[in-house]
Amino acid sequence: MLDDLVRAVLARLEQEDAREREQNVPREQRARQIARTTGQLLFAFVAPQTDCEVLEIGGSRGYSTLWLAAGVRYLGGRVLSLEYDSAKVEAWRRNIADAGLDEWAELEPGDAFETLPAINDVFDVVFLDAEKEHYEELFQIARPKLEPGALVVADNLGDSPQRLECGLPRKGGGPRVKSSSTGSGGTSG
Ligand SMILES: C[S@@+](CC[C@H](N)C(=O)[O-])C[C@H]1O[C@@H](n2cnc3c(N)ncnc32)[C@H](O)[C@@H]1O
Repeated sequence: MLDDLVRAVLARLEQEDAREREQNVPREQRARQIARTTGQLLFAFVAPQTDCEVLEIGGSRGYSTLWLAAGVRYLGGRVLSLEYDSAKVEAWRRNIADAGLDEWAELEPGDAFETLPAINDVFDVVFLDAEKEHYEELFQIARPKLEPGALVVADNLGDSPQRLECGLPRKGGGPRVKSSSTGSGGTSG
């Protein structure tokens, strides 16, 4: 399902993440990437969709973007990732290029509160993975940019360290939310 290039970059990022955790690298300097199982779930959400346009808020070094971009490559689409940390932006670009996924993913550098309002695209899937205290506000900015029936996925919303929330936005109401725990392998905190 994933080609060798993508597998190699995913494996390297998993090793980097484990090493940084072991060395107690401060949280803001780490990738804080999703668990592998969450990546597999994201892949499964997007791969069956034709022309799947994905918005990712919080791209970090590109681990989750790799799963999403490898998924949209199947039937067409694109991932637009937002990230404001310049070191992570640089790493994101290198990792996506190393995986051969540049054609399927692009990054908008800068604070999502500034970049997102100026984005005129519409999206089939939104993945929220910035700071969770900003999810509500970011979701409100993203909301007018959702296709009918779009899927919204938020990582780490609940108390459990690896909890994923998914919802389909409803007319006149908040998103309909489903929760699932995606295993203990990871990490984003
Ligand atoms: C939990 S990490 C994302 C991990 C990434 N999705 C992955 O799995 O590889 C959160 C990221 O969001 C970024 N971030 C937080 N607030 C942001 C904002 N307002 N605009 C852009 N990026 C933001 C942080 O710099 C950090 O890299």
